[in-house]
Amino acid sequence: MITNSKIILREKRLADAWSDYHWETDPELAQLDAAPVSAISFSQYLLDYANELQSSLPTSHHFAVDTVGGKHIGNCSYYNVSETKGKAELGIMIGNRDYWNRGYGTDAVSTLVNYIFSQTNLSRIHLKTLKSNTRAQKCFQKCGFTPYGHLVRDGFSFTLMEIHRNQWQEEQAKA
Ligand SMILES: CC(C)(COP(=O)(O)OP(=O)(O)OC[C@H]1O[C@@H](n2cnc3c(N)ncnc32)[C@H](O)[C@@H]1OP(=O)(O)O)[C@@H](O)C(=O)NCCC(=O)NCCS
Repeated sequence: MITNSKIILREKRLADAWSDYHWETDPELAQLDAAPVSAISFSQYLLDYANELQSSLPTSHHFAVDTVGGKHIGNCSYYNVSETKGKAELGIMIGNRDYWNRGYGTDAVSTLVNYIFSQTNLSRIHLKTLKSNTRAQKCFQKCGFTPYGHLVRDGFSFTLMEIHRNQWQEEQAKA
């Protein structure tokens, strides 16, 4: 469990399944994530969810985002971990709209970045976000990410962003 001023990052658990299902079947959230809306039933989702919780991959690390009061409001992760290239991809979703634009995303992302650079040997974290998702880009910028390119895939236009360990260290030294 990792605590910051607004949020707690913790391991995923079965009790998260209902909120995760609710968010993954939400058309607006799917659109913001350039993902298809899940059409799966909750009973099937729960079965898959339980199996995934049991099988942890070394290349993929998922966390729930809770408020400090213990309310589950979203998820974040780092995945596609390449030890040889020293890099991983980061993802975040604050699913509960009541917590948008209130600094929770920034707190979660900066907590995860701190965790990755302090607990692993990775030297670069990268991500992609829809070019139109200016709120997400602002959030990532506040956490030290900078744009480094663009990608068009499946008709979606993405902004690519990254942060290197030395940039993070410089910011840590200033704080
Ligand atoms: C993207 C997301 C993680 C950001 O988290 P958040 O808690 O809402 O964002 P924060 O409050 O930490 O920071 C957002 C910043 O963007 C600003 N902002 C809000 N809407 C904006 C817009 N349309 N354009 C530009 N900036 C915007 C906010 O004012 C804030 O900046 P400030 O603190 O300087 O005022 C969260 O909103 C979310 O998960 N949204 C739904 C799913 C999604 O977009 N997924 C894609 C992620 S790649």
